[in-house]
Amino acid sequence: MNQPAPRPSTTQLPAWQALRACCEAAAGRHIADEFAADPGRAERMHTEACGIFLDYAKNRVDAPTLALLFQLAREAGVAEQRAAMFGGERINRTEGRAVLHVALRMPAGSTLMVDGDDVVADVTAVRERVRRFSTAVREGGWRGHDGRRITDVVNIGIGGSDLGPQMACEALRDFAHRELRLHFISNVDGIALDRLLGTLDPGTTLFIVASKTFTTQETLTNANVARRWLLGHAGSEAAIARHFVAVSTNTEAVARFGIDTANMFGFWDWVGGRYSMWSAIGLPLALQIGAERFDELLAGAHAMDVHFRDAPFEHNLPVILALLGIWNVDFLDAPTQLIAPYHQGLHRLPAYLQQLDMESNGKSVRSDGHAVGCHTSPVIWGETGINGQHAYFQMLHQGTRPVPVDFIGVLEHPAHLHAQHRIAFANMVAQAEALMRGKRAAEAAAEMHAAGLPQERIDALLPHRVFAGNRPSNTLLLDRLDPRTLGALIALYEHRTFVQGVVWGVNPFDQWGVELGKQLAGRVLEDMDRSTDINAHDASTTALIDRYRRGARA
Ligand code: F6P
Repeated sequence: MNQPAPRPSTTQLPAWQALRACCEAAAGRHIADEFAADPGRAERMHTEACGIFLDYAKNRVDAPTLALLFQLAREAGVAEQRAAMFGGERINRTEGRAVLHVALRMPAGSTLMVDGDDVVADVTAVRERVRRFSTAVREGGWRGHDGRRITDVVNIGIGGSDLGPQMACEALRDFAHRELRLHFISNVDGIALDRLLGTLDPGTTLFIVASKTFTTQETLTNANVARRWLLGHAGSEAAIARHFVAVSTNTEAVARFGIDTANMFGFWDWVGGRYSMWSAIGLPLALQIGAERFDELLAGAHAMDVHFRDAPFEHNLPVILALLGIWNVDFLDAPTQLIAPYHQGLHRLPAYLQQLDMESNGKSVRSDGHAVGCHTSPVIWGETGINGQHAYFQMLHQGTRPVPVDFIGVLEHPAHLHAQHRIAFANMVAQAEALMRGKRAAEAAAEMHAAGLPQERIDALLPHRVFAGNRPSNTLLLDRLDPRTLGALIALYEHRTFVQGVVWGVNPFDQWGVELGKQLAGRVLEDMDRSTDINAHDASTTALIDRYRRGARA
């Protein structure tokens, strides 16, 4: 397997050491003072590409710090690893795989040879099948077993086989087919599926069983329930072929489950689950918005790939976002990162980015097996910014630790929503300003004087009414929320994650950390059914299993 050129650990890199010194020197500096001292700051600290404008002037960095961050990317080998990824090298070394989600959005007709195989040709062939199938369902050519049109599509999948298409379907609802409803089922507790099935007509429902491995317990459990439900109504196995399709890399398991492999859409082991929404995993979205618009999503992502591949680091959106993120996590000691979209359509974006970022870079060991020696993936969290403002933004403004924020706004909006859109936008910009600028004691005191408060009350309240400010944020403005720009936005975050992984030296494309819990769940499940005493666990776990055995009833 191709080994990366050995390089010192991240923290030994000269740029890292210089950044450490920079950070100490800048400890007392306030972003507001940087703005006051440098009228060109905002003008310099923005960049745009693919319909996305990024203002990063409200970060706790000055020009020398930024220069060192770019140097860090160079010393860490970002350009070389980027070339290796785009070239189809097996950069997912722990699994011996290439990493080619970028090939999923390459234009038909281009080529990318991996092990003698043109992967773009393979991708285009599946894309064509997705096109034909989604068009047939949307236009009524594909019908249920009793000849009626499909009205409801249920995607059964979890993690990467759920979050991407679900997030995108929510974001692009304005482009949705009017008579096709999309549903997403992931939770194994059965509640969501049970509630949903009660509202569906089996004759007009299509299930997509989406699982890269087709071994995922949650997905197969839900798929089996759906299968029984359908058979219970349709009465014949033949109905399965009209109501179940699969998206997977595992043909044998799909066949074993009882789905005709003619109704299976494949993808490849070089597509990570959390990077797979561009593959046939995006089938629910293709059904919702149509194949042409799905192509636009791919084109937007491809445009961002080209930008990431070709733009100099200093103008490269993913590189800039990645380096600022590293600065915040490792030098400003910010353990989390808030994603705050100010557009209801993006309400599942934080959940999507949680998997993308934390399953990728939530590692403490480098690709070469050595300890990382610095902090990696921050906790990604959030929901729509406006709701967050009335829930947890208090902590952002006055809590003890900085929470860097990505504010995400959309410029274009429907004319009839103009008044509301203005309010949402004003709030977003104001929050970023308030976090950065804060409110100094003199300002707070003057306000209270003006409001007629007695001096004694002012003195008592003053510490509570002061905002330190100096809290970093990025603001991303999308020209509009359409398939193309959404594709670019998601690709932007994918590449940001990649760059961070390279700098930290971890492999962003494996996820061994999810295995132990899965193994133990299998053992616990067996022990829950045992009538005899169990002692293979610690006392706490044993007691919990015991309590379940005594207390759980149907
Ligand atoms: O358990 C984590 C994980 O393997 C994710 O990486 C993946 O996206 C998810 O489970 C679902 O996996 P699959 O698509 O194979 O069902």
